[in-house]
Order: sequence, then C-alpha cells, then structure tokens
Amino acid sequence: MRYNISAQKLWLIFILLVGIACLLLINGCAPSKAIADKPGVLLWSENCQRCHNTPSPTTFSPEIWETIGMHMQTRALLTEKEREKIVEFLKSSR
Ligand code: HEC
Repeated sequence: MRYNISAQKLWLIFILLVGIACLLLINGCAPSKAIADKPGVLLWSENCQRCHNTPSPTTFSPEIWETIGMHMQTRALLTEKEREKIVEFLKSSR
C-alpha cells in the first residue's frame, strides 16, 4: 500500500500536534483547581503545623495575625492567595 501524503498535509499534522502539545503543557502548569479552591481553614490545618503546633485563631488579635501571616508566608512558601485565605480564617474565627 502506498501513502500519498503531501508536504502540505504533513505540515498541517505537525502544526496540530505542536498545538496540542502546547495546550497540554499550559494546562499541566496551571495549579489544579482543587488546590486553588482550598478554603483557609484547610490551608491552615495543612500548613501551619509542619514546623510547630497549629496556632489557635484565638491566640492573637486580627492585627497581629496580619503580621504573622506575612512572616509565615515566606517560611511556609505560601502564595499570596493562600496567605490571604489563612489570615482571613484566623481573624474571623475568634
Ligand atoms: C517552615 C516552617 C514553618 C511553617 C510552615 C510555619 N511556621 Fe510559624 N514559625 C516558624 C518558626 C521557625 C517560628 C519561630 C521564629 C519566628 O517567629 O519567626 C514560627 C513562629 C510562629 C508564630 C509565633 C509564635 C509566638 O508565640 O510568637 C506564629 C503565631 C506562627 N509561627 C504561625 C504560623 C502560621 C499561622 C503558619 C501557617 C500559615 C505557620 N506558622 C507556618 C516556622 C514555620
């Protein structure tokens, strides 16, 4: 059997495959929705006890939580959004 694919068609297939590969790559780099959607309380319980006991929301005033949030964001390698959610939870649950 003889295949008679023109160079033009090969190009089309090639471009399509590159396009699909790019889409997969971009999609794979995006943080998963499940992780991005985690509420503050979950992020707090998962992250803030890795190095010390989980601090209770009642331990500090809302203003102090803001500052602690910034210090612990760098330590715990949290994103801006994650810190905001955790601090929001800590401030609201006292
Ligand atoms: C990578 C380790 C690490 C992670 C993760 C971490 N911390 Fe800390 N935390 C520390 C260290 C070390 C100290 C003590 C030194 C300091 O105050 O910077 C500390 C101190 C604290 C203090 C001060 C305690 C006191 O009595 O003065 C609070 C409050 C605190 N962390 C809250 C948090 C919260 C909330 C999170 C989650 C967002 C968190 N930490 C995540 C390492 C960590």
